[in-house]
Amino acid sequence: MAEKYILVTGGAGFIGANFVLDWLGNESAAIVNLDKLTYAGNLGNLQSVRNDPRHLFVRGDICDPGLVTGLLERHRPSAIVHFAAESHVDRSIHGPEDFVQTNVVGTFRLLEAARAYFSKLSAAEREAFRFLHVSTDEVYGNLGPGDPAFSESSPYAPNSPYSASKAASDHLARAYFHTYGLPIVTTNCSNNYGPYQFPEKLIPVVILNALAVKRLPVYGDGKQVRDWLYVNDHCGAVRLALAKGKLGEVYNVGGSSEQTNITVVEQVCAILDELRPRPSGKHESLIEFVKDRPGHDRRYAIDASKITRELGWKRTESFDSGLRKTVTWYLDNTDWVAAVTSGAYRHWIDTNYAGR
Ligand code: NAD
Ligand code: TYD
Repeated sequence: MAEKYILVTGGAGFIGANFVLDWLGNESAAIVNLDKLTYAGNLGNLQSVRNDPRHLFVRGDICDPGLVTGLLERHRPSAIVHFAAESHVDRSIHGPEDFVQTNVVGTFRLLEAARAYFSKLSAAEREAFRFLHVSTDEVYGNLGPGDPAFSESSPYAPNSPYSASKAASDHLARAYFHTYGLPIVTTNCSNNYGPYQFPEKLIPVVILNALAVKRLPVYGDGKQVRDWLYVNDHCGAVRLALAKGKLGEVYNVGGSSEQTNITVVEQVCAILDELRPRPSGKHESLIEFVKDRPGHDRRYAIDASKITRELGWKRTESFDSGLRKTVTWYLDNTDWVAAVTSGAYRHWIDTNYAGR
């Protein structure tokens, strides 16, 4: 059995699973992967490590203090990397309660368990221990067209139940550093895209709808801007922040790829026209402007100069190359797609897009 562990929460979700795969390919410590397997959690994302003795999957809730404490005591991890969350803005509008429960209460319970565990570690173990809290640029709210990108000192101004719940979790993490000395490092990143993303978020919705010859729903005028970050670049940033981040510090991570939503959709269509041409016309003919999201933030952009300067992080993927890889991955992984787009998924699509 491996001797050294880290505890990853939410490691069966989109970013968490990419992180688990990236970690096992690059680092020596084993992983205890705690995930509740909500609709967004999928063991199919972890197929390639199912026989890896360095990956121990535990189905469970971060809100369960007995379970978390037991895992910490049994495996004595040198770090907690906290991805578990309810992560989708539209779902937070339809049902905010789960967001408060997992993102706020769950993070609080995890911090409490970590605090108790940390207090019993030896001096050397305390020195090494880290709690890496993964968060989002959405906590900073909305940017105007000419505003500078979000930096670590931008004020918090969340506008959706999702971003409000993440903001609350960031504040708790910060407080546990200042009050209890828990060695916390926080990362706030921009919109991720890449393999294994659940098809409720823009890019996989568009790819899969286009392949199914369904309409491509663009909210409002489609001129909202997001700063797209390829998921593997994000995983590298988290590993770096864990290894070299200063305690109590925040690091913003972004892809330097600001794009309007309509441009993103058009680029997906262009790649599909090339890789999967439709005899009856171009994919962009499926684009439909639909009713906007309430409280829709107009622009997000990240200034990632701190993590670049202080930790030496750089993105490796341009939006062009990352998007092409992503589209190709969805074309190549039809079994994964078929598995995630069954029953419950169809119910969500009906809920979110009916009346739009
Ligand atoms: P996701 O929704 O794909 O996955 C979340 C995972 O957490 C799932 O596997 C789910 O089963 C698990 N989970 C949910 N509630 C849980 C609970 N109570 N206990 C244990 N596990 C639970 O999310 P993601 O896109 O991979 O995001 C991961 C993290 O990154 C989140 O904290 C999110 O806020 C943050 N983030 C995401 C993005 C993005 O673009 N996806 C951008 C910035 C920050
Ligand atoms: P999303 O992928 O849900 O991420 P987030 O809301 O966290 O930024 O949405 C990205 C952008 O795409 C956002 O501005 C909303 C928009 N969008 C659409 O226009 N149509 C859609 O069907 C979805 C899911 C999102």
